[in-house]
Amino acid sequence: METHRIRAVINGREITSEPGVTILQAARANSIRIPSLCDHPALPPSGACRVCLVEVEKNPKLLPACTTPLTDGMVVDAFSPKALAARKAVVEMILIRHPLDCFSCESNGRCELQDLAYELGIEESPFRDDGDVCTEHELDDTNPFFIRDMNKCILCGRCVRACDHQSGYHAIDFQFRGIKTMI
Ligand code: FES
Repeated sequence: METHRIRAVINGREITSEPGVTILQAARANSIRIPSLCDHPALPPSGACRVCLVEVEKNPKLLPACTTPLTDGMVVDAFSPKALAARKAVVEMILIRHPLDCFSCESNGRCELQDLAYELGIEESPFRDDGDVCTEHELDDTNPFFIRDMNKCILCGRCVRACDHQSGYHAIDFQFRGIKTMI
């Protein structure tokens, strides 16, 4: 029996998709870009960062593309003025505690957050207060495969989900709350 394919419009392009996928999965499958940070194709979506908020026609609220199922007739716009304004505010909030030392950062030029801030025209966070920037963590280079700088962590939770769902260890998780939250 032939499965009914979903028809939708994403960022002005008509697409068809198999049922049971999220807006973001359908967009990626059709090479349509929707900005995202916490999502990773190999991991279950968590909807943590809200960078992927999109405007969906006839829906009063913005929806996270990574956790919202694509349905028939959806008209999705990831770059509407409303979606862009929300994304900008979200990234500005992520940058409250993030050091803005891009030029001396190991990841300068290959950083998804830096790319997004540049794309949205963000230079610093208007929500930041003195003392919010995270600087107290020591660089951890004890692992031969990666260097861990917890001052730069944006709490996307990808590492937690990778540990849970790829390695199956459940060894790491979030702790503390608010501005003090860390992995
Ligand atoms: S990518 Fe959708 S909430 Fe983070």
